[in-house]
Amino acid sequence: MKPYDIIIVGAGGAGMYAAMEALQTNPGLNIAVVSKVYPTRSHTSAAQGGVNAALANRHKDDTVELHIFDTIKGSDYLADQDAATLLCEMAPYVVREMENLGAPFSRLEDGTIAQRPFGGAQKYRCCYCADRTGHTLLQTLFEQCMRKGVKFFSEYYLLSIEHDGKTAQGIVVMNMQTGKIEAMPAKTVIIATGGYAKMYWQKSSNAAGSTGDGIAAALRAGLALEDMEFVQFHPTGLRKSGLLISEGARGEGGYLVNNKGERFMSRYAPEKMELGPRDLVSRSIEIEINEGRGFDSDAGQYMHLDLRHLGGALIKERLPQIRQLAIDFEGVDPIDEPIPIRPTAHYSMGGIDADINGATAIPGIYAAGECSCISVHGANRLGGNSLLEVLVFGKQAGHHAAVTASSLNPGAISTASVEKIQKEIEGYSHHDRTERYSDLREDLGKTLGANAGIYRTRKKLEKGVADIMEIKERFKKVHVKDASAVFNTNLFQVFELKNMIHLAETVARGALAREESRGSHSREDFPTRDDKKWHKHSIFHMNEAGEVIVSDKPVTMGKHELQERTY
Ligand code: FUM
Repeated sequence: MKPYDIIIVGAGGAGMYAAMEALQTNPGLNIAVVSKVYPTRSHTSAAQGGVNAALANRHKDDTVELHIFDTIKGSDYLADQDAATLLCEMAPYVVREMENLGAPFSRLEDGTIAQRPFGGAQKYRCCYCADRTGHTLLQTLFEQCMRKGVKFFSEYYLLSIEHDGKTAQGIVVMNMQTGKIEAMPAKTVIIATGGYAKMYWQKSSNAAGSTGDGIAAALRAGLALEDMEFVQFHPTGLRKSGLLISEGARGEGGYLVNNKGERFMSRYAPEKMELGPRDLVSRSIEIEINEGRGFDSDAGQYMHLDLRHLGGALIKERLPQIRQLAIDFEGVDPIDEPIPIRPTAHYSMGGIDADINGATAIPGIYAAGECSCISVHGANRLGGNSLLEVLVFGKQAGHHAAVTASSLNPGAISTASVEKIQKEIEGYSHHDRTERYSDLREDLGKTLGANAGIYRTRKKLEKGVADIMEIKERFKKVHVKDASAVFNTNLFQVFELKNMIHLAETVARGALAREESRGSHSREDFPTRDDKKWHKHSIFHMNEAGEVIVSDKPVTMGKHELQERTY
């Protein structure tokens, strides 16, 4: 195959924005976007509530500076301040760019983009398209990529990221429709494959495919991962399925209510109430449940999200999707009844260590979107900063890859690399293998939920690490029964499981090492933030023996000093 100038892995918001920007930078480039799902099914479409930008359409006194401060405070001061600054400075630009490309934002009466309040923000800053913002932006980006002639390889599974230690060489993939393994050489590679919160399985708002494939491939390729222990639990997932009920529901005025009929957030965030940051609201729900103020059900304890006072007209206009989700998955119409909710694993703050241009330590390899850790979110992301990250850093990576591609030689992938992967895959079908995918998957999801969830302790995390190491060992005997070459879902699930096991190890080891509480990482045995020892990023590598090694690196500070974080 002729080498591409840029291969982008992942066709969500970051991948497609990167493709668009790369062609804007250099229209002559030969670009391919490779994705295991059809582009418009990417998980970006699940982002409901909106994208932050200090446009000052609702609150005239909102500024980029306030957005930067809210982001850094929300991160519990772990965000790199150069990255957070760039994110917020570029926000008005990328949102207007999406508007100009045709994204149908909801509007205020004066015709400007509508903005709603979101957690942890001082002003009404979250720009939205009803409660289908990610879906809308994704469709707009796909249209633009089609218009510009971007070549898509849909239903191709990433197997490895290739480099020679000095520059990118390309990727190895499986064509999911034929089972054929193919080398795709490239001068530059942008990883934009999304996050890993689906490893928590039934307690996750994520699509089935959010299994951290690009991040795990980067780890195995020798790249560094950063801050993997920080996993965000969104306060309002549906009780049974964990599906997302947007923060937009609270932004529009929804109440969180316990079994005593109390708006319990008055105890935890008296000023911000339901619009405290996600880590705080999720912890508050857990405390209420643990202290006996939750509602009981066969599907576990839960809380009420009450929207009834908002009225049917507002719910139908601004929250139509979450209304339908509540009806379809809980049998509850929020116009008439409260929605049963509980926290759900939603977003991975950790990911591939990359700088503000999306560049990793290997020239020509970039990362953008949820799979990256450019460290704009630190220990806790603010709602509405995820779609923003996707746009800003998709753009950055696309631009910089386009510039770099012209100075690099075409990549070459050795046949030995492809043969090694082929051999591993053939091994999965050996008859002496006895472990079933489904057992390992369930055990992994359960131990993560029980031992590396919202509240953590050394005892739980040691158990979590031990369980994951046992699952890693058992994985060596995993058996793929289905021998078909055509769309072998049993095989793809095993690929995903391997990725999740490797990333679960980083999450649990990072969480065990970090003896403090910061943002989404709450250690009951170390309940306070410890800036002296732990104001630093965690860094993860995989050595040749396949072991995960944890180290650290400093946080990039700026003008915002460390402060106590209260709401
Ligand atoms: O609650 C939401 O609508 C999710 C948005 C986000 O994660 O940024």
